[in-house]
Amino acid sequence: MRLGIMTGGGDCPGLNAVIRAAVARTLRTYEGHMLGFENGWLGLINNRVRDLDLNAISGILPRGGTMLGTSRTDPLREGGLDAIKEGFEFHRLDGLLVCGGDGTLSAAAQLAEQGLPIVGIPKTIDNDVRGTDYSFGFDTALSTVVRAVDALHSTAESHDRVIVVEVMGRHCGWLAICAGLAGGADVVVAPEQPTTIDDVCELIQRRLARGRDFSIVVVAEGARFKPDASGRTPPIPRRLDHKGRVRYGGVGEVVAVEIEQRLGIETRTVTLGYIQRGGTPTAFDRMLGSRMGIAAVDLAAVQQFGRMVSLQGSTIHSVELSAVRGGPRPVNPELYEAARVFFG
Ligand code: F6P
Repeated sequence: MRLGIMTGGGDCPGLNAVIRAAVARTLRTYEGHMLGFENGWLGLINNRVRDLDLNAISGILPRGGTMLGTSRTDPLREGGLDAIKEGFEFHRLDGLLVCGGDGTLSAAAQLAEQGLPIVGIPKTIDNDVRGTDYSFGFDTALSTVVRAVDALHSTAESHDRVIVVEVMGRHCGWLAICAGLAGGADVVVAPEQPTTIDDVCELIQRRLARGRDFSIVVVAEGARFKPDASGRTPPIPRRLDHKGRVRYGGVGEVVAVEIEQRLGIETRTVTLGYIQRGGTPTAFDRMLGSRMGIAAVDLAAVQQFGRMVSLQGSTIHSVELSAVRGGPRPVNPELYEAARVFFG
């Protein structure tokens, strides 16, 4: 069995665990061969590839990022179906394991529909890939955010300040809501639950009224706001990157300015940014990544292509890869309701 593996989209902790597990399963269990394609789909398009043997994966389990590199290349726009097919033929691939978030896996689903032998593996710190209960990377990022929220509590309390913590999550508020619940945030604003600045201020005022002169507000980078009583919505910046894609970031500062202006309470912002994507993976992410890497190779071995490995409850299953094309997976409302019990 001759397989390839690649990692696409934003990196996250746990990718090296997947690579390690996929290589070990292929070589040890099936006596097969594994090729590692570099920088996402670019590796297949530009023939940037290396052999992955057992020595190549030695020592990578605790390392964040991806030993193969990654990119946000869209294979159909930037390479084209023919180039991808040629890559499969040139390398005599029996199957390709694609680790990615919704963008990378949506492209993988389209290629699988064209008959290419692909197995998907869901990764993202945003935890918003449809078809799986958890993606690896999320648990590590959540731990990072909760540690930050814990640290910010003491300084906010010492200075009687509001601190707005902006976290990642373009379309869904998994990090914001779960960190709000686990870190004891006083307000959480997430894309799934649009709110008004009036409501945010009211929750802070409720705390002031009972003598709690500080507050922690967690805001997802993709947070959405409804117009307040005066019909105004906060001016959230929407910037584009060099490829014309929306670049998130900046909503936290806007929310902080609004709070300070309305309530006259000193308000600071912390944008956690890429720190959430780095660091050594938690035990949960190492285990999930390892189990998913093994399961993906097992699917390829029985030629179950066009599928994605998934965690359902505590068991690894697989779903149709096309499931990811249903759009990002919103946070379960029960989680938001649980976090909301502690607001204000
Ligand atoms: O997909 C994860 C994510 O962390 C998003 O929450 C964030 O908006 C995005 O990646 C930023 O990625 P980059 O700047 O690397 O394109």
